[in-house]
Amino acid sequence: MSFILHFLLGCCLLASARATCNVCNAVNNLTCYSLNQTQACDANNLPTGLPFSCPTDYVCVSGANGVICEPEASAASQADCQECNMCDTTNTFACTGTSSFALCLGTDTLQDSVGTCADGYVCNINATQICDLPADGIMPTCSYADDSTDSSTTSPPPTTTAPSTSNPTTYCAAVQAEGRFSVGTDAYTTCRQYILCSLVSGSWEGQTYTCPGSLYFSSATNLCVAAMPSTCSTSVSSTTSTTAAPTTSNPAAYCAAMMSQGYYPVGTDPSTTCHQYIYCFLLSGTWSGEMYTCPGSLYYNSSSKICASALPSTCSATVASLTLNGVALE
Ligand SMILES: *[C@@H]1O[C@H](CO)[C@@H](O)[C@H](O)[C@H]1NC(C)=O
Ligand SMILES: *[C@@H]1O[C@H](CO)[C@@H](O)[C@H](O)[C@H]1NC(C)=O
Ligand SMILES: *[C@@H]1O[C@H](CO)[C@@H](O)[C@H](O)[C@H]1NC(C)=O
Ligand SMILES: *[C@@H]1O[C@H](CO)[C@@H](O)[C@H](O)[C@H]1NC(C)=O
Repeated sequence: MSFILHFLLGCCLLASARATCNVCNAVNNLTCYSLNQTQACDANNLPTGLPFSCPTDYVCVSGANGVICEPEASAASQADCQECNMCDTTNTFACTGTSSFALCLGTDTLQDSVGTCADGYVCNINATQICDLPADGIMPTCSYADDSTDSSTTSPPPTTTAPSTSNPTTYCAAVQAEGRFSVGTDAYTTCRQYILCSLVSGSWEGQTYTCPGSLYFSSATNLCVAAMPSTCSTSVSSTTSTTAAPTTSNPAAYCAAMMSQGYYPVGTDPSTTCHQYIYCFLLSGTWSGEMYTCPGSLYYNSSSKICASALPSTCSATVASLTLNGVALE
């Protein structure tokens, strides 16, 4: 019994010592901040302070000898912080930033999808529910260095969002004010979102949220409201011929945004939309969609595209918002 316990402890300690970005290595109390930067850890085993760069052509490796900079030529494959923008083993999602992710829909490539973690939660490729808390020992898979430099993978390209709001953290760093800020003027997409800026340990952090249901963000009241603000335009939205708002409750418009035949997820609410899926198909040159509900208490798995009993990782309150091809999943 105690042998088994020791074996288990041994295995998991070893695993956590080997893994990865932002995880403190107990051997020398350092972590890899990025592919080529180290960072100190505090007494609570959490990364703290400014990152230190490895010498040129060296990479950060966390292993049995602690966190060390090793020559890139020999250690490139062992370098930490390389799982950002990679789909998880179930091909369900990929972390695209420290608190953002994208769906993979059963492929090993990121789809045109933007998911955000709830406030304070971070995206981890191995987390059961995608986003989890650093306080629970779950650290972000992506480097914080990626958040400020790599906005291309986290921004939804087809919308009319001003470039400055596409990366909430750089946006908040520019605005330098706490509070909620409107994102754009597209009545179907960005008008329903807002960026929440907060000052965390002296640095500005921003997160994009989507108002629940069909509510709009009102910059006048700083709340999600039913009435569409006058700044929002319904004409700028889609290049498709559809006039209906592309929401998941409107399968035809949703499918016009997907522009591909197949099965797609509807939402992230475990009690309702997680049981549903939409089948998109081309009918006489026009995209059509049909919404289905899984039988009994089964959930729709966006990777296997079948109804199954296991709760999908996307169905969690730790997920703040999720879009697919610009359409907000509910
Ligand atoms: C995820 O789990 C795999 C397999 O256990 C491990 O190799 C990898 O380092 C883990 N990644 C993170 C970011 O925790
Ligand atoms: C790492 O931190 C722990 C806990 O704070 C401390 O006991 C240990 O001496 C430190 N190790 C090194 C190598 O600094
Ligand atoms: C560290 O890696 C980044 C991105 O891979 C690169 O732009 C930067 O030049 C590297 N820094 C050093 C000191 O090698
Ligand atoms: C969803 O399907 C994928 C692919 O078959 C599978 O690996 C994964 O475990 C499933 N997710 C859940 C929550 O069962």
